[in-house]
Amino acid sequence: RRVAILISGGGSNMVALARDMTGDHPARPCVVLANSDDAGGLARARALGVPTEVVDHRPFKGDRVGFEDALQAALAPHEPDLICLAGFMRVLTAHFVTPWAGRMLNIHPSLLPKYRGLHTHARALAAGDTEAGCTVHEVTPALDDGPILGQARVPILPGDTPETLAARVLEQEHILYPAVLRRFAAGDRTAVLLP
Ligand code: GRF
Repeated sequence: RRVAILISGGGSNMVALARDMTGDHPARPCVVLANSDDAGGLARARALGVPTEVVDHRPFKGDRVGFEDALQAALAPHEPDLICLAGFMRVLTAHFVTPWAGRMLNIHPSLLPKYRGLHTHARALAAGDTEAGCTVHEVTPALDDGPILGQARVPILPGDTPETLAARVLEQEHILYPAVLRRFAAGDRTAVLLP
């Protein structure tokens, strides 16, 4: 299976996924695409020998469909058959998502269905939650929705800040996402639940 990984920032999840796709893994990364050319993950992808693409979203301000058509055009030559959103910070509409139904994954830094959207760690802390985590799900047109393919839980500790909690969750993202992709790429949708 050929996997396209979409990023917006440092790409630590992309690195974890790419590093795991070796040996008898049924998938290989075919392209890393970022929505801006200053995404730190682009250099990391190139260092791993993965082709990269950039589609800047800013020229398409107010034209989501135009941006999504440009995404599709940039991906097509790499012939992906799966997409992994990994710290990709643009909302994708049904125009892009529907043709990829069942073949596109996302990782979200909360225990969905709690805390869809942004600032998940601050919200969990404000709510007084005792645990947090991350979720890998199939992407549907609804934001941070879709069938759950994996979750990893971490404790919220006294004195946690959004930053300390984010770091604890991110560590688990790097374990969860590769584990889910290994199964998903082999056609197995059994949920991965950690610990
Ligand atoms: C992190 O906040 C992570 O929780 C979320 O995307 C952000 C950047 O991740 N999934 P990455 O380092 O670019 O993979």
